[in-house]
This record gives sequence, structure tokens and C-alpha cells, in this order.
Amino acid sequence: MKIISSLSEFKEIRNNLSGTIGFIPTMGALHGGHLSLVKKSNQNCDHTIVSIFINPTQFSKDEDLNSYPKTLERDLGFLKKNHVGVVFLPTNDTLYPRGYSTFINENIISRGLEAKSRPTFFRGVTTIVAKLFNIVNPTHSFFGEKDAQQLRVINKMVADLNFPIEVVACPIVREENGLAMSSRNEYLSVESKKSAAIIYNALTYAIFLLNNGERNSDVIKREITKKIDRLPAAKIDYISLSESTSLTEIKGEIDGSILISMAVFFDGVRLIDNISYSSD
Ligand code: PAJ
Repeated sequence: MKIISSLSEFKEIRNNLSGTIGFIPTMGALHGGHLSLVKKSNQNCDHTIVSIFINPTQFSKDEDLNSYPKTLERDLGFLKKNHVGVVFLPTNDTLYPRGYSTFINENIISRGLEAKSRPTFFRGVTTIVAKLFNIVNPTHSFFGEKDAQQLRVINKMVADLNFPIEVVACPIVREENGLAMSSRNEYLSVESKKSAAIIYNALTYAIFLLNNGERNSDVIKREITKKIDRLPAAKIDYISLSESTSLTEIKGEIDGSILISMAVFFDGVRLIDNISYSSD
């Protein structure tokens, strides 16, 4: 497994690879969710490249950039075990040298849900992912459905900017109690990790209501809000029922494919999760 930080060295190695190239951008603190993307890439592509870079432009001033979990040695061990050929570890100065001034904005899907609490988040994500796509030049790139809005924003950017890359969506990997795996789960106490199972519990309850014929989005939202609010440790940031592709908020009657998503704080840690439903 080659571990490369320098841009010129990376380009040289990339130029010597032929066939399909699967790329997985990450911020490290790897877990089963990330590794499911690696496995999918290994199955689908001739080579797999993983980047680890904690991208400062997607963190706001009051977020956890400085304390974001760093477990590099463990990460490299996981990647080696999963037969990754190349790990790209760019430095901040390489990607954002002094005077850096170009950003990419997706202006429709990036607006709702996550953006209400994190208004500059997607601008940072699209900028770094576009830069990494240009450097890595993959044929395929793998993203988790855990970050449902991010996945849609990346798909839109790829279409709008004509990146010749196939974006592959990968299902959410969960802990045994249903909590979606996340690097930020490392911040949670054992107790909160247990309580946070309520998030997935509430999402599956929404599916139960839908399967039993409930079609009023306000009723479903109210029911799952009630369920989560019963836990004093949980602080809801948002709960959303939106049209699956555009992420337009549904008011009233539910029809077609929808995304139910939410962000909930436990111990001050913001956890996100989602589930899809189609009434067709
Ligand atoms: P990060 O949070 O490290 O996630 C990297 C990839 O792993 C994303 O595509 C994310 O959706 C996926 N992932 C995380 N948890 C998952 C889970 N439980 N199941 C399935 N997939 C999961 O997302 C980012 O980094 C950054 O925003 C990035 C795209 C790297 C840009 O900086």
C-alpha cells in the first residue's frame, strides 16, 4: 500500500495506473461505514484510492475542526487489511496554499436541511471533492447514503460540471443497536451511544406509520418528534420529510419517493441519520 502526501508523487503514481479507479474521499477516523465503501470499490474497480484529509473549509468557526478525531495509524491498518492500493494524505498547505480563493457552490440542493445549521458546509464539501476529483482523476467515486444530502449535492455537481465520474451510493452501515456509524460517535459516552439508538428507532417508526397508510407528513413528523423528545438527553436540530431527489420539504400529503432525515444532538454531538421510503 502506497501512502503519499506530495502532489507530484501522487500524480506520478496515478499516471502509472490503468483500468478503472475507485476513489473514496474521507476525513479519517475510519469505521465500518468507510470500509464498506472501500469494499464496494474493490468489487467494482481495478484500483482503489482512499484520501484522508480533514477539510477545514467545511467546518464553521464554532465546529470541531481542531478536535476532529484523528486515528491515522489505525486507519492505515484498516486500509492495508482491505487491500487499498494508494492512500492520499494531502497537507493543508498543498490543497489550500496561502492566497487560495476559489470555491464551488451548488445552489439548490445545498440550501435546506443540513445547511440551515451549517450554512457554509456544502461549499466546503463541493470545493474539496472537486479538487480531489481533479487530482485523483477516478472513474468511480463512492459515497455513503449516511450523508444523504451530501450525496445528492455531489451527484448534482458531477452532472452540472461534467465530471466524467460515476458516483456510487452505498448503504448506511449501523452499529448493532441501529446507530449509524460515524467518526463523531467517538465523542459519545457509552450511555449516549445507547440512547442515540432512538434516532434509528424513530426513523423505522416513521416507516411503520407509512406502511400502515399514514400519508400526512405533519403527523409523521409530530409522532417521531414526540418519540425523541421523551429522552431528555436528546436535542432535536431538525426533522425533515422531503422529496427524495430535490430534497424539497413536503408539506401535507406524502406521494412518491421521500427522504426522512434528521439531526439530533447527544452530549452536544450532532448526529445525522436518514431513511428512504417510496409510496409507489
Ligand atoms: P467522512 O465523514 O469521513 O465520510 C466519508 C464517506 O464515508 C462519506 O461518503 C460518508 O457518507 C461515508 N460514511 C460515513 N459514515 C457512513 C456509514 N455509517 N455508512 C455508510 N457510509 C458512511 O463525508 C465526508 O467525510 C467529507 O464530507 C468528505 C466527502 C470526505 C469531504 O471532505
